[in-house]
Amino acid sequence: MDFGMKNRMSKIFNPKDGKTVMLAVDHGYFQGPTTGLRDMKNIIPLIPQADCLFVTRGILRNCIDPKIETSVCLRVSGGPSILGELSNEDITTSMEEALRLNASGVGMSMYVGAKNEDRTITNLGRLINEAERFGMPVLAITAVGKEMVRDARYIGLACRIAAEFGAHIVKTYYCDGFEDVVAGCPVPIVIAGGKKLPEMDALKMTENAIRAGASGVDMGRNIFQSDSPIGMIKAVKAIVHKGATAEEGYEIYQKNKKSAISGIDPNMEKV
Ligand code: 5RP
Repeated sequence: MDFGMKNRMSKIFNPKDGKTVMLAVDHGYFQGPTTGLRDMKNIIPLIPQADCLFVTRGILRNCIDPKIETSVCLRVSGGPSILGELSNEDITTSMEEALRLNASGVGMSMYVGAKNEDRTITNLGRLINEAERFGMPVLAITAVGKEMVRDARYIGLACRIAAEFGAHIVKTYYCDGFEDVVAGCPVPIVIAGGKKLPEMDALKMTENAIRAGASGVDMGRNIFQSDSPIGMIKAVKAIVHKGATAEEGYEIYQKNKKSAISGIDPNMEKV
């Protein structure tokens, strides 16, 4: 890896512990104004808590203060809406744009076991070829085909393929036997949170993933759809960066929720 690539990776993964809390707010690229992201002002107080913001160029340009210290990983794939065939994605944002927006990484989905499996995987190869010319890390997102069971065999297959094609970071879903997924993937893995879960379950999943060797999270709905988004991101951060347990994380979440209700911290009322 050259200086540029290493430098960008260090903006995504905290160099102190090699881990990351990425805040995923890209959902609108196929879901439209998703619950929790309708008004992007709601996520502004969360940004300083994250190591990296996973976002589309449209939201970055229109809703995010360019002075943020949190790094940016740009979603560069898309095409179909939630009403279409999700696997029918292509690369939609150029490398030039990623560089102009000062992204520290770019991310795209690949669909193993779905209709357009081969095209999304070869697109990943093409994106990596281009990204490496500029020292830009690529995050491969192993989106799951509708018929696929999210077990360690399938998730392990998808993550390994992403790494074989040269992805620098892989984002996937947590599953039982996650240690085996990590063991078979030579690049850092971050987990998505998936659909909104009760807070304790989401924190337990985070703890289990970190214990199994994940390098962090790229989490969205379980943070911004919580009744205390700021409490949840602080809790997730404590688990990822401080080795806190889910129970300790839950206390952080509850404490923040209570202070927001009692109005102790006005910032927290906004989220
Ligand atoms: C959609 C994505 C989202 O960024 C990803 O799913 C993470 O968000 P969540 O934690 O809500 O699952 O890549 O394809």
